[in-house]
Amino acid sequence: MPNIVVAGAQWGDEGKGKIVDLLASRVQVVARYNGGHNAGHTVIIGGERYVLHLIPAGILHPGILCVMGNGMVIDPWALEKEMQELAARGIEFGDLVISDRAHLILPHHRALEAIAEERRGSRRLGTTSRGIGPAYEDKAGRRGLRMVDLLTPETLPGKLEEARRHYEDICRAAERTPDVDWERLVTDLVGFGERLGPRICDVSLVLQRAVAQGHSILFEGAQATLLDVDFGTYPYVTSSSAAVGGVASGLGIPPTRIDAALGIVKAYTTRVGSGPLPTEIGGSLEEELRRRGSEYGASTGRPRRCGWFDAVIARYSVRMNGFDSLALIKLDVLDALAEIPVCIGYRHRGELVSELPADVAVVEACEPVYERLPGWSAPTSGARSMDALPEAARRYIDRLAELVGCEIGIVSTGPDRHDTIFRSNSRFAAWFD
Ligand code: IMP
Repeated sequence: MPNIVVAGAQWGDEGKGKIVDLLASRVQVVARYNGGHNAGHTVIIGGERYVLHLIPAGILHPGILCVMGNGMVIDPWALEKEMQELAARGIEFGDLVISDRAHLILPHHRALEAIAEERRGSRRLGTTSRGIGPAYEDKAGRRGLRMVDLLTPETLPGKLEEARRHYEDICRAAERTPDVDWERLVTDLVGFGERLGPRICDVSLVLQRAVAQGHSILFEGAQATLLDVDFGTYPYVTSSSAAVGGVASGLGIPPTRIDAALGIVKAYTTRVGSGPLPTEIGGSLEEELRRRGSEYGASTGRPRRCGWFDAVIARYSVRMNGFDSLALIKLDVLDALAEIPVCIGYRHRGELVSELPADVAVVEACEPVYERLPGWSAPTSGARSMDALPEAARRYIDRLAELVGCEIGIVSTGPDRHDTIFRSNSRFAAWFD
């Protein structure tokens, strides 16, 4: 298989975990390029449910090299907890490496996030409260700590000084008492360095060697295009480069080594946290869809907001990421509907809008324009071929592909690995065999 990126095409939670898991058996390396433990990638294997937050989903396949990139922000407490929980279920970590350049999430980042969210009041972002944003702020502000710093414990107190000053300045302005125990923090970090040290390395070198040996790499994205710090609905975004562009900068792999991109879209749209969701359904129908789709955050348990499929944002994602093919997830959640609205454009102050506006205030003021497609009112759950789908479901899939300008090569009809249709006419068909 070529080196392929798997990235979310909406606001996250599209089901990347399942697709990464499915394709992982066809590659030698799975490498994650962005985000932290704000992500929750759910994989169900033989009825067993695994939720991965930091570790690439390839870890569930023995013998695959798993890489955590420099574009990630890593909370070492969360990482060790996840490793321990997986180890207790028999997962081995022999082949897990962590970028020496990845930044650390430390306790003061969570405290700073709580202050920032409180100050925003009604414009709060509804973050996952994991310290993600402040850790990326420290990175860009050049006062962050990186994994490599864990390898020289004697330098830790000095390296923490600037971050500490910045944190205490903000506490003072917000009239808060700083409550980070910095001495204890250094002791903890020394322990992490001793335990994680053997895994910390220059992953760009590891990846380039893998390429030289003819190995295939799957690049795993977290969050999604509409949450990307540059291309998402700013400021209601996460703080990393979640779109395909993040692969090169988040792993140190040249863009010329990326061969193809697979986008993941849900058959409808969901979003957690604040920010525009033009096709939000509201009322009991939204609740019903949430219930049928089990739309609750894998990391925070928050109910996800649900909307109809939005072809404006999906088309934008296809263009922005250059997706070669899409995997359509959770088709079966729509089974009971007699009619399914699909957003084909927006109306703003009487004008038709076909491209996603940059100004979030404009997006918030947009009214969706719907095309109503016939539902199939029949079960598709667990279908494994296009022929097993009702005619109206096939038409729904074809219409979405037409509207977004990209083939739909995979259709997922249930949570298990096997509830999947690999389409024989897909550009990727040869790699799915
Ligand atoms: P943060 O990433 O915790 O800073 O949160 C910023 C925004 O991204 C919030 O709206 C979160 O709900 C959203 N977000 C972050 N990670 C995920 C994810 O993995 N799935 C869906 N939404 C996410």
